[in-house]
Amino acid sequence: MIKRKRITKAVFPVAGLGTRFLPATKVIPKEMLPVVDRPLIQYAMEEAREAGITDFIFVTNNTNRPLLERYFGDNESLNATLSRGGKIAELKLVSETVVDPRNLHFCIQEQPLGLGHAVWCAYEFVAGEPFAVILPDDLIQAKPGCLTQMLDVWCERGGNVVAVEDVPRDRTNRYGILDVVSDDGRIASARGLVEKPAPKDAPSTLSIIGRYILDEAVFDHLNKSMAGAGGEIQLTDAISATIGTGKGQVPFHGLRFDGTRFDCGSMTGFVEANVALALASSEYKEYLRERLKRHL
Ligand code: G1P
Repeated sequence: MIKRKRITKAVFPVAGLGTRFLPATKVIPKEMLPVVDRPLIQYAMEEAREAGITDFIFVTNNTNRPLLERYFGDNESLNATLSRGGKIAELKLVSETVVDPRNLHFCIQEQPLGLGHAVWCAYEFVAGEPFAVILPDDLIQAKPGCLTQMLDVWCERGGNVVAVEDVPRDRTNRYGILDVVSDDGRIASARGLVEKPAPKDAPSTLSIIGRYILDEAVFDHLNKSMAGAGGEIQLTDAISATIGTGKGQVPFHGLRFDGTRFDCGSMTGFVEANVALALASSEYKEYLRERLKRHL
């Protein structure tokens, strides 16, 4: 295994309005919606921390930034109340959310210009080294976590590594799709990527999901501010432009991770995640079994 630099920084693009979750998102940012017992952003943070990430960069908006700061900050009066009540388990849960403010960074995305633009907004925090991008909408149930699995591949092969999943052909228009050159069933190499192609134009049915380990070369293409599919600045296009062996180009690998991904950007995926995670917890399993019996 080649010795590579560690990856210590992760970008969380969370500036979206979450309109699919209205009315809740009228006041609660989408990443704060809980799946069973913790907000979406907490799952993403736990996955990042497990992978050794120490610096967290949120690309957000002015309304949501203070909420993120409060969520990851220390709440002394809450701690005091919990201590007085002897609520040790609750104190532990709260303490697990706390991040040293020196490791939290915020960039404001003024306009919704696309995922590529969101990553570009984080440039000053990640320039000069490889970094991770985590879309908290994609909740991934995996052991070890998806990003940890991807880091293993990156340590061996370098370049850009993304998590991928096979999708039915009629859904290629929802994802970035790989133009595959080789595929051993676990790791696929691609010659290019296409953002949300129509099923008939899709070069494969292997889709990118919201986990990326990116080489800084990607910024050479993001700062050209080119609009792609849907008129947005697409991360997929910038990554695609870096694939190769020429100057400023790097290898690209897609990892079919071991685990289950829930698309919590959609209401269906969000409900599925709640059911699956509740079933994984002994606390709710029995109730769900009984309830289902009555419905079937
Ligand atoms: C984004 C990316 C897309 C990727 C998807 C994964 O799309 O642009 O390439 O496949 O995330 O969730 P979005 O879901 O923001 O439309």
